[in-house]
Amino acid sequence: MDFASDTTAPAHPSVIEAIAAVNTGSASSYGADDVTARVRNLLADTFETNDFDFWICASGTASNALALSIMCSSIGAIACHEEAHIERDERGAPEFFSGGAKLRLLPGHGAQIDETALRDALAQNNPSFVHETPLETLSLTNLTECGTAYSVDTITHYAALAKAEGLNVHLDGARLANALAHTGATPAEMSWKAGVDVLTFGLTKTGAIGCEIIILFGQMRQQFDALKARAKRSGHMPPKMRFLAAQATAMLDGGLWLELAKQANSSAKTLANLLCAQPGVSLAYPTDGNEVFAVLPPAIEAKVQQAGVKCYPWPGGSYRFVCSWATPQSDLDALRDLLAEA
Ligand SMILES: Cc1ncc(COP(=O)(O)O)c(C=O)c1O
Repeated sequence: MDFASDTTAPAHPSVIEAIAAVNTGSASSYGADDVTARVRNLLADTFETNDFDFWICASGTASNALALSIMCSSIGAIACHEEAHIERDERGAPEFFSGGAKLRLLPGHGAQIDETALRDALAQNNPSFVHETPLETLSLTNLTECGTAYSVDTITHYAALAKAEGLNVHLDGARLANALAHTGATPAEMSWKAGVDVLTFGLTKTGAIGCEIIILFGQMRQQFDALKARAKRSGHMPPKMRFLAAQATAMLDGGLWLELAKQANSSAKTLANLLCAQPGVSLAYPTDGNEVFAVLPPAIEAKVQQAGVKCYPWPGGSYRFVCSWATPQSDLDALRDLLAEA
């Protein structure tokens, strides 16, 4: 029973087939190939716009750090949730790639920034006060790190508040697919139409091998050359880009990525229901996507540990269980039987 992460899942067979299919003949390097050009067309369809540039990375940390490095100067600050991946899980990469930008941490339940905290931070922002690091960017995450989904309305509202104070807006979409599958919003509605300037669009957790696309919308396209220069300097300019791009074609063509996210979300709902059927189990956060955060009574906690169920103890006292497109029904059945024994 492996519920450790969606990154423990295999890649979807279509991704492997797409890579094999482009493994023939020569192709231009560094993203100048036909497969990468195809990704552009697929992204244009998916996001309903042509007003964008993009770059493909192999990891979410690289894509977040590169994205933020063109959005915030080395003497500026990025407002984000205190549990954001960029704060807790990226070993200072955003600060490193930006050459010293500061993260300004904001509170809020379920890893969603509290509106009052955001308003206060924006109201206190004073770029002319030399002693304080002024906010230049707001970074949101959807799904959040607690598995909850911001609505399009909230993203739109927060982006408008940030933009009114001259900030630009980043969205960490490592699990964007799961948030879309939950809310029913379109990719366009949850990104540029909501005021997102730069999206890090994750496909790895959804079913790719390693494919995280930085998408610069509208005005932010002016930074595309700077992004590529930073990608090169930091070693994120893969020469054989066609193989990364092939993953995106497999995922985006025909909407496979959303189908896989729906599957993962549905498995997580089943898992949450199994857990909640047990006396004493409660959810720390609503299961909006493919992650379940459950507070377990001691008897169940012991049983889960003894059986070697792979899941993470989470700060705050819950356990995180993650489902993926490949979560087998047999894992869910085995968990059900284990809980029945407990
Ligand atoms: C919210 C979020 N952002 C980004 C990432 C990507 O990180 P990685 O560098 O492991 O691909 C993750 C992975 O766990 C994540 O949960």
